[in-house]
Amino acid sequence: MDISIIGSGHIGAGLARAWRAKGHAVTFGARDPRDAELVALCTSIGATATTVAAAVAPARVVVFAMPYGALDDVLTASGDLAGKVVIDCTNAVERGAGLKYGHTTSSAEELQRRIPTAHVVKSFNAQGAENLAKPIYGDLAASNFYCGDDAAAKQIVRQLVEDVGFDAIDAGPLASARLIEPLMMLWMASSRAVGSRDIAFRVLRR
Ligand SMILES: NC(=O)c1ccc[n+]([C@@H]2O[C@H](COP(=O)([O-])OP(=O)(O)OC[C@H]3O[C@@H](n4cnc5c(N)ncnc54)[C@H](OP(=O)(O)O)[C@@H]3O)[C@@H](O)[C@H]2O)c1
Repeated sequence: MDISIIGSGHIGAGLARAWRAKGHAVTFGARDPRDAELVALCTSIGATATTVAAAVAPARVVVFAMPYGALDDVLTASGDLAGKVVIDCTNAVERGAGLKYGHTTSSAEELQRRIPTAHVVKSFNAQGAENLAKPIYGDLAASNFYCGDDAAAKQIVRQLVEDVGFDAIDAGPLASARLIEPLMMLWMASSRAVGSRDIAFRVLRR
């Protein structure tokens, strides 16, 4: 799978490492593709970096792994996203502030409205980035939720969630992002209370 990732920080780099290990082709779309840290990351994992527009154009899957505040810039730089699977990992929070959206809409739904011909899938937002490198707790994989309105796009994302090593949980339509987005707030509150970022959610089944 050709995957373009916008953002090479905690989430972008973590996803890229995991997906490269599974043989996916990863291209970072960056403001400065020649940034030394980004070049070193690409060399170490076998990815490439280019501009946002050049990374997005050929990709089937585009991952938004930048701060929510960069969304306007990234949408402008991305150009046409028609038909692409857009995985929204962002959390619409400012430092020290709560979620911008509540239970009547979500940042993922607002994003879908802005790019109606793309297939937005919300995922990878509701746990610490450390879990991308270490998704296994004991003999259980941490659960990672995903939701979206396009069945084919969701199937692609499900596989990508599993390729990171997570237990993939289908949370239903994109409107479920209203629930998955606040889950990050629960993860952060629990992480602070427990005093560790080595925590994750797990859905049990029988
Ligand atoms: N960290 C976590 O544990 C975690 C967990 C779940 C979800 N998230 C969400 O995931 C997203 C990324 O978080 P992070 O912790 O990975 O952030 P981060 O480490 O600060 O990295 C942010 C990345 O976004 C890039 N970026 C910023 N503005 C950009 C723009 N206008 N155009 C293109 N790239 C831009 C930055 O590149 P530059 O070098 O150009 O600045 C950087 O590579 C956020 O929305 C966050 O809420 C984070």
